[in-house]
Amino acid sequence: MLKTEIIEKIKKLKQEKNAVLLAHYYQRSEVQDIADFLGDSLQLSQEAAKTKADIIVFAGVHFMAETAKILSPDKKVLIPDLNAGCSLSDSCKAEDLKRFKEQYPEHTVISYVNTTAEVKALTDICCTSSNALKIVDSLPKNEKIIFGPDRNLGNYIKSLTGRENMLIWNGACHVHEAFSVENIINLKKQYPQAKVLAHPECKEPVLMLADYIGSTAALLAFSATDNTQTYIVATESGIIHQMQQKSPKKEFIPVASSNALDSNVDDSCGACSSCEFMKLISLEKIYDSLLNEQFEVNIDEDIRKKAKKSIVKMLELSL
Ligand code: 13P
Ligand code: SF4
Repeated sequence: MLKTEIIEKIKKLKQEKNAVLLAHYYQRSEVQDIADFLGDSLQLSQEAAKTKADIIVFAGVHFMAETAKILSPDKKVLIPDLNAGCSLSDSCKAEDLKRFKEQYPEHTVISYVNTTAEVKALTDICCTSSNALKIVDSLPKNEKIIFGPDRNLGNYIKSLTGRENMLIWNGACHVHEAFSVENIINLKKQYPQAKVLAHPECKEPVLMLADYIGSTAALLAFSATDNTQTYIVATESGIIHQMQQKSPKKEFIPVASSNALDSNVDDSCGACSSCEFMKLISLEKIYDSLLNEQFEVNIDEDIRKKAKKSIVKMLELSL
């Protein structure tokens, strides 16, 4: 089927079934272009909570679709590919967090939304990279915190707040951890006027080289309003599509991942950091998903209710 044909069929099915397509900024460009709503993790969870659609098709990864189902249990939530997982979410298993909590019963648990419903059910307040600082700051200075699962975001927030009483989970996103410091230094030499934009899931040496650190949506907003012409982008490369659309005259250069450089990938885009889980979602799979109403995301009701509390708390604190 031609791309234009698939797009037309997706539009028709969405209308017939009163379905909405939510997509994360790390999706393929052609998926971003047909989304009804495009956003970062926080914006997508806010949208999932208020949509009037009967069906939510989630062009993102599994934990995002789960979050939508937790917030909108009466809606059918579909993910076009069940293999769209997340290395960060995988780095925190519910049984491990449960044991850890037993060791530190007096700690408040703050978990990134990049976690399973089971982990959210063990969490007091969720956060995303957009609101992590606000959520941590909402707690009294002397409150003991377990922050997980992203160690880079956790350490970054710890350094901003100066809190000593934060236990950081030892998890990470394989995409954001892989950016090559050497590549950033070389790019800075090549483009001396460029600003470095970095996501807080990146390692500390990358963050130290950044001119601006922020969530995906914050990086996008900064690039659109700032008056520099060239940016070196240390986050998942899918966001560059939106950056380029908002600022067609500016130049955005993706940072390569060390792994890709080690394996001598010479094509700059082949080496740039892309989340293979996010890129599993294609137009064809979205069409199949809508047509066959697959693959439905369901959550045990007891887990869902507990998980919902931690997300609702986050949404209330994010207003
Ligand atoms: P944000 O959408 O909060 O920027 O998180 C980035 C991410 O890695 C999502 O999977
Ligand atoms: Fe997970 Fe990282 Fe991919 Fe985001 S970019 S979905 S955190 S693996």
